[in-house]
Amino acid sequence: MRKPFMAGNWKMHESIPEAVVLTQQISNRYKGSWDAVDIVLCPPSIDLRAVWSVLDFDKSSISVGAQNVHWENEGAFTGELSIPMIKDAGMKFSIVGHSERRSMFAETDEMVNRKVRALLAGGLSPIVCVGESLAIRDAGTSMEYVCAQVEAAFAGLDSSQIPSCIIAYEPIWAIGTGRTATPEQAEEICKGIRARVQHLFGDDAAEQIRILYGGSMKPANVEGLIAMPDIDGGLIGGASLKADDFASLVEACI
Ligand code: PGA
Repeated sequence: MRKPFMAGNWKMHESIPEAVVLTQQISNRYKGSWDAVDIVLCPPSIDLRAVWSVLDFDKSSISVGAQNVHWENEGAFTGELSIPMIKDAGMKFSIVGHSERRSMFAETDEMVNRKVRALLAGGLSPIVCVGESLAIRDAGTSMEYVCAQVEAAFAGLDSSQIPSCIIAYEPIWAIGTGRTATPEQAEEICKGIRARVQHLFGDDAAEQIRILYGGSMKPANVEGLIAMPDIDGGLIGGASLKADDFASLVEACI
């Protein structure tokens, strides 16, 4: 049995004081039953330490993750954060290859792969985002496209490293649009991703890796998605900015 995994992707929302309040609100809703779910908050980089501090003070088992990292440990990379830096600040995860970074900041499959390998080498877990555009969906090639992204992201990895990785299937046409993939559409691709992982890395890796759905996941649609056998949780944007909604999403996994 895979442990459910729920991550909040705050994107470019919440100043430090706002992030502290939101984290406190989420932490205050924590119940013992939430121990059954791995929960990660991914705020903007300036908030990382403040969010971590609130959770540390509360002795919470909620983790914190970055939204992006560079693969080099240090150097002349203006505006970037390194893995040792986020590790020192208490992070255990980083989102990698979000479609917004791929489309707006020219993040390529090769860069995603470098980040995945560097995170694993540093003892952190990548949350690797994959997903097709509406044009690709309409062309009927979603499965091949998404599986190729997974294969590229995991190039050069050893099968023993796969269980530390998380994949988030986020169809671009469902992100922030209010248009969610149906549970059947999401399951079809998540199942295909797991089959590709099995083909590349074997049964144990495929059985253990958590595959999330992301794209307008909210309390009204979470039940159907999470009930699918190959969907192990969610990467949540908009609904993760409201403590009540995020709490309902976590509780849907229990
Ligand atoms: P959304 O974003 O839940 O607001 O659609 C999800 C994401 O981009 O990770």
